[in-house]
Amino acid sequence: MASLHPILKKSYWFLAILGGLWATFLILLINPTFQRHALYAHKIHTAFWNNISNPEEFGFAKGQVTPFNLTTSDRETLFCWHVLPLDVYLDNENEIVQKATGLVGDLQETIGYKLLQRDPKSRVVVNFHGNAGHVAQGYRPSTYRSLSGIPHTHVLTCDYRGFGHSTIHNPPHIPTEAGLITDGISLTSYLLTTLQHPADRTVLLGQSMGTVIASATALYFASPSTSALPPTIAHPSPLPNSATAFAGVILISPFPDLPELLQSYKISGFIPVLAPLKGYPKIANYLSSKIIDTWPTLPRLQALLTASAASKTPVHISILHARNDPDISFRLSEAVYAGLETLFLGDENVVASEERRTIHGGERVKRGAFAYRSVEDGDRMRSVELEIVRYGGHNEVVGWSQVSLAVRRAFKGVKSLRPGLDVE
Ligand SMILES: *[C@@H]1O[C@H](CO)[C@@H](O)[C@H](O)[C@H]1NC(C)=O
Ligand SMILES: *[C@@H]1O[C@H](CO)[C@@H](O)[C@H](O)[C@H]1NC(C)=O
Repeated sequence: MASLHPILKKSYWFLAILGGLWATFLILLINPTFQRHALYAHKIHTAFWNNISNPEEFGFAKGQVTPFNLTTSDRETLFCWHVLPLDVYLDNENEIVQKATGLVGDLQETIGYKLLQRDPKSRVVVNFHGNAGHVAQGYRPSTYRSLSGIPHTHVLTCDYRGFGHSTIHNPPHIPTEAGLITDGISLTSYLLTTLQHPADRTVLLGQSMGTVIASATALYFASPSTSALPPTIAHPSPLPNSATAFAGVILISPFPDLPELLQSYKISGFIPVLAPLKGYPKIANYLSSKIIDTWPTLPRLQALLTASAASKTPVHISILHARNDPDISFRLSEAVYAGLETLFLGDENVVASEERRTIHGGERVKRGAFAYRSVEDGDRMRSVELEIVRYGGHNEVVGWSQVSLAVRRAFKGVKSLRPGLDVE
């Protein structure tokens, strides 16, 4: 090698070491245990120094959040939160403050549950968080605070098995796709069956990896015996017997499936996984073929639409993605939308609309991104909409107004409303 300036020499070594680390990371990914640790990242959290049984630490009013234990159909214990809406809180403040508890074993014994049950207008958002961390990690509390501003709207959210304080007794003792879907089904079944809350006043909301769980759960309640779910999921008892109509399924920053995601995904917005292998399709395909949990959200949403059409059950899917999401490109939401829209085209009386925005300037996005698209069938039983918002990144966006508006629209039954698009 020609002699290099010391700084160049240093940066050469720096790059070589960085490349070496990345290559080692890829080789390690072939190992199933390492792969699942990297994907679910459940060991990365702050419950070591934050007390998630004390929600006031995260900005909630005393007693507004009840931490509770939920037993899944395969006997894992999930650590969950029940968040009260502020209007309900205000009307019952004294009682709530007096009866505030730490972690409880049975939600049905709490004042929060009684308030949910006796309010004929009560609604519930079942929230599915993304990978890594616990219920109160990062921006997650701001999501619950934003939703708690919606009248009569409670939030239920759990840490999946192996995350935070949730147990992981079942083999392989590490989060798996089937395990997390079992968690989602168990929580939803608990709400609909044990708590007797109606599905048409329930919204399933997921972000990032949570969109995998939200979609799978929605599909399960539309078609419990579908072949599009892992055969090893543990079914709840009783089984849901008929097609269930939720008020809406809202997916923030989703993607068609994991192999497609990894082509462009950047961990924390800057560490690429497979993107640098674009010129080496053989290696990239080999690594893709080693993915165990493939998270096939698009095929499951397609199965959901097909099952709902067959049983004439309403289904409304809203997809939201921030244009400045550094982890998952909004193009992947467009891909999910396109894959769902195809199922409608060719049907009679289908109504589709789209709002295309021309984007100038130094944004990441090229001209011609879609801002809003929607498609619904003639009798408005099934609808899918896609909204690309300008700001909010990957995580913060869930606590922002557009998501809260999407939840309100779902509960109000406003379908295919043209949202107030920002102009540039
Ligand atoms: C966490 O908070 C709960 C509720 O305030 C309390 O009962 C518990 O002792 C706290 N745990 C720790 C480790 O501080
Ligand atoms: C909740 O579940 C955890 C894990 O199984 C257990 O350690 C804890 O005692 C339970 N708490 C209550 C109040 O039931």
